[in-house]
Amino acid sequence: MNNQTRIISILSDGAFHSGEELGKTLGISRTGIWMAIKKLSTYGLDLHSVRGKGYRFAHAVELLDSTKILRSIEASTRNKISNLDVFLQLESTNAYLMGKVNSDIDKANVCFAEMQTAGRGRRGRKWISPFGGNIYMSILRHFSSDPQMLGGLGLALSVAIIRTLQDFGINDVKLKWPNDVIWQKRKLAGTLVEMVAESTGPCRVVMGIGFNADLSNSVSHQIDQPWVDLKTILGEVPSRNQLAGKLLQQLFNAITQFEQSGLSMFAEEWRRYDAYSGNHVSLLLPKDKISGICEGIDNMGALLVRVADGQIQKFTSGEISLRG
Ligand code: ATP
Ligand code: BTN
Repeated sequence: MNNQTRIISILSDGAFHSGEELGKTLGISRTGIWMAIKKLSTYGLDLHSVRGKGYRFAHAVELLDSTKILRSIEASTRNKISNLDVFLQLESTNAYLMGKVNSDIDKANVCFAEMQTAGRGRRGRKWISPFGGNIYMSILRHFSSDPQMLGGLGLALSVAIIRTLQDFGINDVKLKWPNDVIWQKRKLAGTLVEMVAESTGPCRVVMGIGFNADLSNSVSHQIDQPWVDLKTILGEVPSRNQLAGKLLQQLFNAITQFEQSGLSMFAEEWRRYDAYSGNHVSLLLPKDKISGICEGIDNMGALLVRVADGQIQKFTSGEISLRG
């Protein structure tokens, strides 16, 4: 653990800790502590510094802990993971795993970050990822299926998020094609699947999940659409490690199910939560805009829209945005 990580874990109790106390615990000078704290402030952490009292976080933070997360999932799922890492800060968990070589291609690589400096959404958009309150995670795994068959994987992951929310008693959520989980018209979570199809051999797939648990942070105003977090829905934030474990379990269950039978096992469930089926919608294409009535998804995860001449058109491209 480096000094910054150690300071963060000491401050995570939300109480004041003086520079002197931190210095003694870490075995470094007060100036060293001050410099480390200054660096932490640039991460956008809500840190208070009060003369005569010391430093503290605005709120207590339950840091993610790989041992706790692994302990909370089923042994059979643990066996499918080669390693699970928790980072204090990454540019993007998806970017990190996209650049990683998996030594054991039969197993998955999982990573979580406490914050992301360049969290990404679809089509170059940003995922705002402040420190210590939410889940930013990715899974790297190889699939032997044809890349075209993987088109519906993101939708299966959204169903896994729905199932996780049900574990917390939340049922009134909706899905917006292709990758958004919505609560009362506000965005709660999103998935981002990125893949590299090798000319021979299996396809390397990175599955990223951003899930808002507690977004009451100074940077949340940067989100340019209505958003929500679990804290608002439940009135409290459940244990982040428990949430991470439940989510990981559901994701692995879904991945296994998807590998065996594709999207067919999920399509019905996805349709039950479809936010737009039957509604008038617009599709924003790179150079065009199409309007029509949303007819839901087909069994491969393509969006179906009844256009002006009454024909149903199918849309699969990642270059399309659906608007109500
Ligand atoms: P679509 O998926 O229909 O193309 P979208 O606006 O939902 O449209 P995405 O790429 O899915 O786009 O998601 C990125 C968008 O999500 C950002 O542009 C921003 O509006 C919103 N966003 C960013 N960070 C968060 C967050 N932490 N919570 C909720 N929403 C966020
Ligand atoms: C979206 O709605 O566009 C999807 C957002 C996905 C965000 C997650 S956060 C963890 C992973 N790493 C990233 O950079 N993006 C995904």
